[in-house]
Amino acid sequence: MYSIEEKYNLAKLAYDNAYVPYSNFRVGAVLILKDGSYITGSNIENASYGLTNCAERSALFTAYSKGLRKDDILEIVILANPVKGITSPCGACRQVISELMNMDAKVTMINLKKEVFECTVKDLIPFAFTSGDLHE
Ligand code: THU
Repeated sequence: MYSIEEKYNLAKLAYDNAYVPYSNFRVGAVLILKDGSYITGSNIENASYGLTNCAERSALFTAYSKGLRKDDILEIVILANPVKGITSPCGACRQVISELMNMDAKVTMINLKKEVFECTVKDLIPFAFTSGDLHE
């Protein structure tokens, strides 16, 4: 549906909008939706560091706030510029992704050199804690 170039360009808009006065490490995320549209999210930091919201969660919380749900989301694209290699989501985001996206949904990670790594949500977090673990 979207080429890698298009995914990169959309993620780059979110990357550029990141609010990162503390780490100076920008991350942009894009959710590709079944209807062909998309939603972006950026990492938003805070002077109280622990309150930082990662780009992946910004995008997912925006999607859910608009009334979208996991079956509406085909893929998450994540763009960052790490010292080396390609950035993959932090543990907290993996947990949130595992609840708010389908386990077979696609995860595409890109860096500014346009190197790409693709996997599924299940690959990111194979033994996730889920709502199924909770008592009634
Ligand atoms: N960060 C993300 O937004 N997503 C990731 O996948 C990794 C980390 C953010 C959090 C913080 O603003 C900055 O990157 C440095 O940790």
